[in-house]
Amino acid sequence: MTKTLLSFGCGNMANAIIQGLYNSQADLSYTLFTPSQTKAVSLSQIVAGEVLTSLNKIPSSNYFMISCKPQQLEELAKDIKSKLNEDSIIISILAGTTVETLQKLLGVQKVLRVMPNTPILVGAGVNAFYFSKEVSKSERQELIELFSKFSKVFTFESELEIDKITGFSGSGPAYLFEFSRLLTEKMISMGIEEQIATDMIKWTIYGSAKLQLDSNDSSERLRENVTSKNGVTYEALEVFKQMDFKNMVDNALDAAYNRSIELSKQN
Ligand SMILES: NC(=O)c1ccc[n+]([C@@H]2O[C@H](COP(=O)([O-])OP(=O)(O)OC[C@H]3O[C@@H](n4cnc5c(N)ncnc54)[C@H](OP(=O)(O)O)[C@@H]3O)[C@@H](O)[C@H]2O)c1
Repeated sequence: MTKTLLSFGCGNMANAIIQGLYNSQADLSYTLFTPSQTKAVSLSQIVAGEVLTSLNKIPSSNYFMISCKPQQLEELAKDIKSKLNEDSIIISILAGTTVETLQKLLGVQKVLRVMPNTPILVGAGVNAFYFSKEVSKSERQELIELFSKFSKVFTFESELEIDKITGFSGSGPAYLFEFSRLLTEKMISMGIEEQIATDMIKWTIYGSAKLQLDSNDSSERLRENVTSKNGVTYEALEVFKQMDFKNMVDNALDAAYNRSIELSKQN
């Protein structure tokens, strides 16, 4: 029988996940809520869903997805808590919001905490999962199967691991986009036409990711395959070494991790 998913919030990330589910022909029907309605209406048109116009009448649902911003959770929880029950399964995509907080604010037990990333929009995303202990084995399996149809799912046994991986899979696309921006801008500054520079860098990053996915070689080996002693790549990588690129990346990732821990404590 077709199961039902009700999403509170239809921003960028909820759109990516719900369209991913819909495009992978998950046996689900969708009900969508946003305070302003605009985004719920536009997503409902894409996924043949219903729009929930008021939180006074919340239909029963197999899955309730919490997709607002973390700071909007408390307000939402006040409106929906009394309409949820102990069998309700919550899927939360809120960064830095712990299962304990969700259980307390929503008065529920069964929670799947998800850390998604934006490449979900193109069917190449990563979803990290952490389940509260009350979610049964079969419920876990079903959720893993649903999300695996449109993304790579990694399940963690400890919630602390979610704080650890957030700065990698969640934030990772931003680091690569920043690198992409720097490469493109430099190319343009050297006189290469903007459109050509943009496309060449996009394809270079895409091709490198594809090569790595299709290969069993380590990152180091793949890097060596492009690098001959005293050649062009070698010169650039030597500058990375001299400027301690490794240390910079290390510090950035530590800062991301610390922020993740801080947010979990606040939420
Ligand atoms: N973007 C990422 O890369 C990323 C990665 C991992 C996790 N996340 C998490 O994903 C969540 C959503 O992020 P986003 O980038 O998709 O945000 P977003 O585009 O700003 O969307 C937020 C949505 O929440 C709705 N909303 C606001 N107040 C609400 C309330 N009281 N009740 C129900 N819905 C409410 C908004 O409705 P209106 O349309 O009416 O304003 C909007 O549709 C965040 O918690 C974030 O931590 C994001």
